[in-house]
Amino acid sequence: MLTRSLINIEAGGDAAGSRPADSDALVGEFAHDLMRALSTKPHGISPKYFYDEPGSLLFDRICDLPEYYPTRTELGILRDAAADIAAHMGPRAEIVEFGAGSLRKVRLLLDAMDRPARYLPIDISGEHLARSATSLQRDYPGLDVQPVVADYTQRLLLPAALPGAGRRVGFFPGSTIGNFTPAEALHFLQIAGQVLRGGALLLGADLIKDPAVLHAAYNDAQGVTAAFNLNLLARANRELGTRFVLEQFAHSAFYNAPQQRIEMHLVSRRRQKVALGGECYELEEGESLHTENSYKFTIDSLRALAMRAGFRPGPVWTDENRLFSVHWLHAPG
Ligand code: AVI
Repeated sequence: MLTRSLINIEAGGDAAGSRPADSDALVGEFAHDLMRALSTKPHGISPKYFYDEPGSLLFDRICDLPEYYPTRTELGILRDAAADIAAHMGPRAEIVEFGAGSLRKVRLLLDAMDRPARYLPIDISGEHLARSATSLQRDYPGLDVQPVVADYTQRLLLPAALPGAGRRVGFFPGSTIGNFTPAEALHFLQIAGQVLRGGALLLGADLIKDPAVLHAAYNDAQGVTAAFNLNLLARANRELGTRFVLEQFAHSAFYNAPQQRIEMHLVSRRRQKVALGGECYELEEGESLHTENSYKFTIDSLRALAMRAGFRPGPVWTDENRLFSVHWLHAPG
């Protein structure tokens, strides 16, 4: 059964750590972060602002692009390893998904699991969460689906384990961990370790590979990734009343090998001014707004990071070309 009233659990008692979850507050936060990005150099803003409705649709299109191998490859790994992963989960396990992403991935797990007890997706967007939860509930009528509206990058409180439930297994696919800074990734893993205590985390992480393959994945021929990047400015025009002229910005994505990450930028094609919040900001020709990092890992570097957060590495599943990895990480006891 789907628990109708969405649970709204924010970090308890930590004012600095709590985030507004309603849309007005998020618009205020976007304006604040964009003003800060434009007034400090180098200019940089969180990739979380990509994901309004049009941005999420563009991201769905990215996932199906021929050049963007991560989604396809991770799905293949999960499909091939589903029975093995389900055996590690054990009977009556519950899945805590960090982010209500594509339901395609969790379905592969649920189909292989022995009587899954409950599915707890956590997402800051209540609307998106409710939609995914309802659709999943339709296909798994016997499953207890309990969406949790919260920012999973902050301290979390989750409902207590169900009586008779098995292991609590976190699920964080898609290499979203790569969009965090190393410090944020460690912080996220510490939070996950607390809520999964005694259970495990199933984590998808993109691997370091030929830079040409990485470059192509973020510079697709159809220009969908460029549109996704530029949507950040389009969103600012829609929500904040800025007047960015999108044609005056170029999508730039490249692999920064020393930092082991893809960087995405929006590069100003000319000297221009932007008005926001009663202030006027100037961008020089060639100056960039850094919109995203997508860190890539080796199996060992990912495991080392997880160990720093108190996890004990278990099995790792990869594809035959070693493009992507899925890790079983035992949570602290
Ligand atoms: C969501 N995240 C893991 C994607 C990535 O590959 O870093 C976002 C993305 N950015 C450009 N293409 C896809």
